[in-house]
Amino acid sequence: MLENDHLESWDRENFFHPSTHLAEFARGNAPQRVMKTGKGVRITDRDGNELLDAFAGLYCVNVGYGRQEIAEAIADQARELAYYHAYVGHGTEASITLSKMILDRAPEGMSKVYFGLGGSDANTTNVKLVWYYNNVLGRPEKKKIISRWRGYHGSGLVNGSLTGLKLFHDKFDLPFDRFLHTDAPYYFRREKLDQTEAEFVAECAANLEAMIAEEGADTIAAFIGEPALGTGGLVPPPAGYWEAIQKVLDKHDILLIADEVVTGFGRLGSMFGSDHYGMRPDIITIAKGLTSAYAPLSGSIVSDKVWKVLEEGTDKFGAFGHGWTYSAHPLGAAAGVANLKLLDDLNLIENAGSVGAYFKSALRDALGDHAHVGDIRGEGLLCAVEFVEDKADRAFFDPAKGTAAQVNNALLRRGVISRAMPQGDILGFAPPFCLTEADADEIATKLREAVTEVLG
Ligand SMILES: Cc1ncc(COP(=O)(O)O)c(C=O)c1O
Repeated sequence: MLENDHLESWDRENFFHPSTHLAEFARGNAPQRVMKTGKGVRITDRDGNELLDAFAGLYCVNVGYGRQEIAEAIADQARELAYYHAYVGHGTEASITLSKMILDRAPEGMSKVYFGLGGSDANTTNVKLVWYYNNVLGRPEKKKIISRWRGYHGSGLVNGSLTGLKLFHDKFDLPFDRFLHTDAPYYFRREKLDQTEAEFVAECAANLEAMIAEEGADTIAAFIGEPALGTGGLVPPPAGYWEAIQKVLDKHDILLIADEVVTGFGRLGSMFGSDHYGMRPDIITIAKGLTSAYAPLSGSIVSDKVWKVLEEGTDKFGAFGHGWTYSAHPLGAAAGVANLKLLDDLNLIENAGSVGAYFKSALRDALGDHAHVGDIRGEGLLCAVEFVEDKADRAFFDPAKGTAAQVNNALLRRGVISRAMPQGDILGFAPPFCLTEADADEIATKLREAVTEVLG
């Protein structure tokens, strides 16, 4: 911190930081960093340290930092009309234009977009849509939602119940009833080491079938999943996974919600993860990449099939009783329009695919032979390195050692931001899409040094 500066103490005394060890922070024993400026993939703190942000904030600053086109669009909108609501048929040029742009890019069969503020509220909206849908269809018992262990769908109450990570449940009295969790599609962490990928996928589908049979298909409304697991480990699905799951869902008339908060708008090198993996979702959650986090905005993209029933519902029961003050906020919408244009103009999604492939092979070249690197995986610019104590029998380190966190810190000392994922020794990388091959090499080289420092 700068000398004679009060920010450090004001921060500890006043600011309740999310996802932070509160007591250690208050005592001054936890990291504290005040970010100041950013350009492209690099961000600079108030002390002048420049860092390569290889996690794009919280995998959201997809177009990179410092994009004046988006800043100008937000400023123009703020000058013209900073706010008006979207209730009872109101909107702005920006929110209407953005909904058209999203639908033009969305997978087949999508009909409308409902705007919220973040991924958490969008998933809460989705649960309400699904419950409403089954009430309109006269199926009041069909309300349970199946999610996966290690799925991440935010940290509110309902959507936090969808999340399948202990950190977000324990001591918060979650998950609520009606929310069930099935297997994580995480082949590297399978229980039976001699199982093939195809056998593992078959088991995931069979376990889902068994859960549905046990609960009763007439009680299960929807299944939610990220196309590729995000916060739970950054894991692309095993081959054939979505096809197998989709078959089970279709058989039992269970809706599919694709949570594309991370994967939507290019992170995997294609516009949507649903298209990437051949999913046929009924509802899609979008947030982060919609505005590249230049302003808060999320959305629920609703399919024709669901939309028809929602219309039928309002004919039967009157206006749809769900809305936020900031739904379709004009500043977020203006940011979204400018962001989607920029993704197109600079071919950034294509770059995420090609530099992503380069980055994964650079990570493999740098670390593939390391005794404690058990897995290097990824799709597009969503990559992870998973550490093991013993490679031969895939023994994991004692979590108390915080191995990935130590590597994360060693890498940070070398000027690169990665993310130690919350469950397991998994180091995550999800840089902005404007990453170059030289940036990718820099991350891989510094990571090798950091891993050697911590693990030899
Ligand atoms: C897949 C997914 N869904 C939902 C969320 C929650 O979004 P938010 O933090 O904007 O509420 C996240 C956040 O990381 C996410 O990764």
